[in-house]
Amino acid sequence: MTRAWWRDAVTYEIYPRAFADGNGDGVGDLPGATARLGHLAHLGVDSVWITPFYPSPLADGGYDIADHTGVAADLGTPADFDALVTAAHALGLKVLVDVVPNHTSDHHPWFQRALKDGAARDRYLFRPGRGTHGELPPNDWQSAFGGPAWTRITEPDGTPGPWYLHLHAPEQPDLDWRHPEVVSDFERILVHWLDRGVDGFRVDVAHALFKADGLPDAGPGQHRDAHRNHLMPYYDQPELHPLFRTWRTLLDEHPAPAGAVAPRERVLVAEAGIFDRERLARYVAPGEMQQIFNFAFLECPWDGRAMREVVERSAQGMAAVGAPVTWVLSSHDAVRPVTRYGGGPTGARRARAAALLMLALPGAAYVYQGEELGLPQAHVPDDRIQDPQWERSGHTERGRDGCRVPLPWKGTEPPYGFGESAPGACWFPQPADWAAYTVAEQDGDPDSMLTLYRIALRARRAHPAADGPPRVEGPADGSWFAVARSDELTCLVNFGTEAVELDASAEVVLASAPLDGRRVPTDTAVWITPKEKQQ
Ligand code: NOJ
Repeated sequence: MTRAWWRDAVTYEIYPRAFADGNGDGVGDLPGATARLGHLAHLGVDSVWITPFYPSPLADGGYDIADHTGVAADLGTPADFDALVTAAHALGLKVLVDVVPNHTSDHHPWFQRALKDGAARDRYLFRPGRGTHGELPPNDWQSAFGGPAWTRITEPDGTPGPWYLHLHAPEQPDLDWRHPEVVSDFERILVHWLDRGVDGFRVDVAHALFKADGLPDAGPGQHRDAHRNHLMPYYDQPELHPLFRTWRTLLDEHPAPAGAVAPRERVLVAEAGIFDRERLARYVAPGEMQQIFNFAFLECPWDGRAMREVVERSAQGMAAVGAPVTWVLSSHDAVRPVTRYGGGPTGARRARAAALLMLALPGAAYVYQGEELGLPQAHVPDDRIQDPQWERSGHTERGRDGCRVPLPWKGTEPPYGFGESAPGACWFPQPADWAAYTVAEQDGDPDSMLTLYRIALRARRAHPAADGPPRVEGPADGSWFAVARSDELTCLVNFGTEAVELDASAEVVLASAPLDGRRVPTDTAVWITPKEKQQ
């Protein structure tokens, strides 16, 4: 029996407005992405996930959707989407899209109707306020972007009305998943995209859809420690799991249009900020989703002991339910690895080592656009910041825009081949010193990050992972550890300050930095294979 494709697939995340600009207006778009799919095929990934390209007022980078089955005018047309899917499939790439079921945009017709008509409010979570005149929010819940998770509306006659829940920005009202039409509408939305040939969905804030009965207070310290998320009354409720099982059945059974994968091969990947190992595994238990992002790996500092623990615990947790670990080092929500691991040459060196570690680990992996170029986090000037966290935090949190800066493709100055836009028109301004990061500059350079990703992705395919949690070994101080992908391939990472001498039997397949003879320097990863297995 062949292994299902998604169990060890590498998926490339496209954030479309910052990926490739097809019409030169400074904003990335679907035709631009289609024209650059060759970059992904050459890179060696198996599938592509495109973040929301739906009509949206962009209060939260497109995760505030005004029409779940449309295409945003600045990104293209439905025909452009179809062309992208056809071109991706022709290159052997699967296509995943986002489904954002927790909330809509406040511009969505459902919410607009609810504002005007009290009888149309039960799709959302409207509640009377507390206090003598309803002037206080219904409970103490906080928005993930800062500030209260409730906003009070004004009735059409000008009187103060009830409050509505928004776990994110006020422009993202939460839906009430106990309402049967919410359930049936999202089934319709899934079917719409399946009929357009998508091979699966990334489910946004999958852990938030149901809220505890009676909406009880959550208590102090909300969002301060994500490891407590599963204890919050607005996350990880038991009703989620039967719902996701019905989605899985839908994906498994809805007929496939030409070119798409067979129904039973379609994938659901959960984006859920849950860190409790056992609670996380429930989302990928048999019959439910197949992948769940491993954010513990992304959030782990560059520390050998901590990394080793994440690798071992994650592998055991997923093995308990027979699911692959879904490794992820970056996304459109996270500070880029090069910067996170210390910035400058040290950060770049560690990001190279982390890439080799991730791509050696058994399981699936996601690569976020620009990760393969080793881009650092960019500085976005105050007057160009779009992330709602900036306003909601009283200008203390700059938010996520620094990892959403358009990719540099070629040339020595902005926009680096990202369309031909005039300075200032670019989606976010690109740094003046990114010439060395362009795809053109890195292409063919044996020492570039792009070359490292290309070679690693090919070698990964040539060395399939063994089943089950990997063997891990190394000293207790965490200065280095070695993790086995299979009997044929092991990745050793040196996190310590001293070089690590390789065993005489080891043959080096790939290294993230030059070795000193058989010595692996600090902040370096190597893929090794026992010499006798080489023939
Ligand atoms: C997770 C998405 O990745 C993020 O960008 C968004 O702000 C929230 N979900 C809310 O939709």
